[in-house]
Amino acid sequence: MCGIVGFTGSRQAAPILLEGLKKLEYRGYDSAGVAVLDNGSISLAKTRGMIKNLCEMTHDGNDIKGCVGIGHTRWATHGVPNDINAHPHLSCDGRFAVVHNGIIENYAQLRDELIAHGIEFKSDTDTEVVAHLLEYYGDEDAKTAVMKTASRLVGSYVLGILCTDGSGRLFAVRESGPLILGIGVGENYFASDVTALIAHTKNVIYLDDGEFAELTPEKITVYDCTGTAITKPVSRVVWDVEAAEKGGYEHFMLKEIMEQPRALKATLEPRVKNGDIVLENFELSDEELKDIDKIVITACGSASYAGQVGRYVIEKLCRIPTQVEVASELRYREPIVDHHTLLIAVSQSGETADTIAAIKECKARGARTMAIVNVVGSTIANLVDHVLYTWAGPEVAVATTKGYTTQVAMLDLLAIYLARRLGRIDDERYAQLLTGLQEMPSKIQRAIDLNGHVQYLAERYYSNQAIYFIGRNLDYAVCMEGALKLKEISYIFAEAYAAGELKHGTIALIDQGSPVVALACYEPLFDKMVSNIEEIKARGAKVLAVALEGDKRIISQADDFILIPKSDPLLTPIAEIIPLQLFAYYVAKANGCDIDKPKNLAKSVTVE
Ligand code: F6R
Repeated sequence: MCGIVGFTGSRQAAPILLEGLKKLEYRGYDSAGVAVLDNGSISLAKTRGMIKNLCEMTHDGNDIKGCVGIGHTRWATHGVPNDINAHPHLSCDGRFAVVHNGIIENYAQLRDELIAHGIEFKSDTDTEVVAHLLEYYGDEDAKTAVMKTASRLVGSYVLGILCTDGSGRLFAVRESGPLILGIGVGENYFASDVTALIAHTKNVIYLDDGEFAELTPEKITVYDCTGTAITKPVSRVVWDVEAAEKGGYEHFMLKEIMEQPRALKATLEPRVKNGDIVLENFELSDEELKDIDKIVITACGSASYAGQVGRYVIEKLCRIPTQVEVASELRYREPIVDHHTLLIAVSQSGETADTIAAIKECKARGARTMAIVNVVGSTIANLVDHVLYTWAGPEVAVATTKGYTTQVAMLDLLAIYLARRLGRIDDERYAQLLTGLQEMPSKIQRAIDLNGHVQYLAERYYSNQAIYFIGRNLDYAVCMEGALKLKEISYIFAEAYAAGELKHGTIALIDQGSPVVALACYEPLFDKMVSNIEEIKARGAKVLAVALEGDKRIISQADDFILIPKSDPLLTPIAEIIPLQLFAYYVAKANGCDIDKPKNLAKSVTVE
């Protein structure tokens, strides 16, 4: 999704803006641009394509002079990706430049209105109306023009605004999208994401919806939508620059796969004290807990597949009916939830538009809300009654890896915690599960150590047109994520099937040499899975099995196998996904794909 940066200070702005935009590249984009104020007029450079094109055009920003500016990476929504539609957009009088993330839903009506006032539009974007509205209201001071403009917009809009009046003044407006202000010394910043700021400052302010900020080199003033100055807390970012960079790995995805033992430790360790689980901000009384008769997990993509694992574990341990609903469906389903329902939203970014909408919908119907989120201060974190952070650190590759495993671990921890408080598991099982979970970082490390073997296998399978994933129960939940990983980064058709469903239709797809990844790690259903493997082998399938160390039956049955360390069956998915992540990575690599930035995908889906 679009990325926004802004800078005001005494250094040259353009090189700083370009560096910031590079840090936001992972969000996905098709064009980029900057606008810088120099001697009272705005210089603009923008182009379709990669930021490196913009760097070449401007000699790394050195051709554009000036100490205050805004920058943007665009992900086309209105109008094709081209130079004209790239942001920033200028008002006709050249007094305002605007960058925007989101969708202005009433732009067609505003456009007609402005055309009737004689304004000529240059682009096909919804954003351009903002620049012209600013000019329209621009006879008043810039702050009033910004407020009046924002009050006319319907939809989601995070705006960065550069204006020629006043010295070095920038405005940042937030409505339904991420925006963070960075506080420097004699200079200030804004950006869509802290990764674009941490090279300069770790002191940040998270803007909330309906707020806007005025930035000068010396000062940041935050206002509510009525224009009244408000006091906002300053937060300290805990990530460092290194955490947001590749650190010697060829791709962010591989780096993030390797980081999983550490990410898992960081998520679990602070919550286990003296053999007990301590969940911060979880203040439901025993009575309130007993009152919960249904759990709804909502999320998108991989986060929803983490939810699928969570569903099996929560139902097994807590015996509370649990359903997983993808947020884009739940939001429009008039969900049947009330104050007996616990809604658990799962999101790495905390900014996914559908997940936000689904939470709002369920909240309005009285559900208790909780979120498992990786980004501190994100919209979802602020929206729910209880937030549990996954301390995975910044995830840059578009395909999630450590985001997913920490979500699964957090759901496991929550399930164990709830089961204990509800009296559904005894002390012995509680201690057993907790110890098992604490051992998962080292089990994951052992799964990562299979790297070389998985690479070898990926090179045997990379040229297939379609690969099927089968499993039962928790293995099936893991199949969904394994298949998504493969298709999103290697563009190979991959689909997950519940192994027990094969003979109800899907087995018709199996032919001589059809590649099938069969997950056989869920011990209670191991024999059933062995029968399913026999069925597909009899029809010629080529089977790559993922099973547990010491499993001789699978070794004799499958064409290829990956053996992962044994753990409690409920916790195994955390280690089981690792070889599938590596498999997807090496298949994509063998196919020459752009692994960190797969085509058509964005890291943070902040529009519907
Ligand atoms: C796939 C992937 C996506 C995200 C989904 C939700 O690898 O990363 O499917 O899981 O877009 O994003 P978050 O977790 O940020 O809400």
